[in-house]
Amino acid sequence: MDKFERIAELKKEKNAVILAHYYVDEDVQKCADYIGDSFYLAKVATKVEQDKIIFAGVEFMGESAKLLNPEKRVFMPEKTADCPMAHMATREEIEEMKKKYPDIAIVTYINSTAELKSMTDVCVTSSNAVKICKKLPNDKIFFIPDQNLGDFIRKQLPEKQVFTNRGFCPRHAVMTEEDILAAKKAHPNALVAAHPECREEVLKHCDFVGSTSAIIDYVVEQEGEEFIIGTVDGVFPKILESAPNKKLYRVIDPQVCVNMKKVTLDKVIDVLENETNEVFLDEEVAKKAMKPLEKMLELAK
Ligand code: 13P
Ligand code: SF4
Repeated sequence: MDKFERIAELKKEKNAVILAHYYVDEDVQKCADYIGDSFYLAKVATKVEQDKIIFAGVEFMGESAKLLNPEKRVFMPEKTADCPMAHMATREEIEEMKKKYPDIAIVTYINSTAELKSMTDVCVTSSNAVKICKKLPNDKIFFIPDQNLGDFIRKQLPEKQVFTNRGFCPRHAVMTEEDILAAKKAHPNALVAAHPECREEVLKHCDFVGSTSAIIDYVVEQEGEEFIIGTVDGVFPKILESAPNKKLYRVIDPQVCVNMKKVTLDKVIDVLENETNEVFLDEEVAKKAMKPLEKMLELAK
């Protein structure tokens, strides 16, 4: 029996479903029942029937699935797979902004700890951040923890005053303007699609900016053949599955999320067999943190 057969057998036996983000390795994506970006996976988590969710992703994704489904058991194949950006804002920063601007909305990227979510008015993902911020009645927004996504929102919504802190994604923020210009020079016929976690000076050279799913859809739907992709190369298999003729180039090499990379097929088997790495949340924090996530699902409709 190969690893995929073993996983299929265990899923049935344990009444479990596997959700995977596009940034995990291709073989892990292959064993998943649902693959997608953060928003899609948060929505799917509220709809699955199985009573155990195996989340092939990073900690904030498993936590969000648990917050939205407290009655389900959620497991992480790799306990240490965490998004560093999720920790790049503090309670004090939020309190200070609220004191300074009592009418400010605290908008928190889903890439954040449950504690940060618990102090928040609404959560967003990269695919719905602009839409949700636009709908808020507040003129002032404190967006945490990703400064680059915050800058992107500010540009799209000049009518709002968007404040940011200094969080960043180590994978996307490392790409520089020189990198993108060099990639364009090497592939002059390619269109450029990138994630809004990249810096503004990178995004200004892009033909398209969007979440991982939006990038995949854009590349598949365009008539062009060549694309420079400014996000983790875990999106490549999905693009090539739908459009095998596309030529995809990286801005930098390697272009991986080291934490997502820690998730392997063996760890998926292990977590299914032994029911380890279950997600547990502090009850008080969870009660407050689920509200902004639910509000996100409502406002994103
Ligand atoms: P998505 O909203 O595209 O899934 O982004 C998640 C992420 O972690 C990007 O680095
Ligand atoms: Fe976090 Fe960046 Fe990895 Fe996304 S790519 S999970 S933001 S470290």
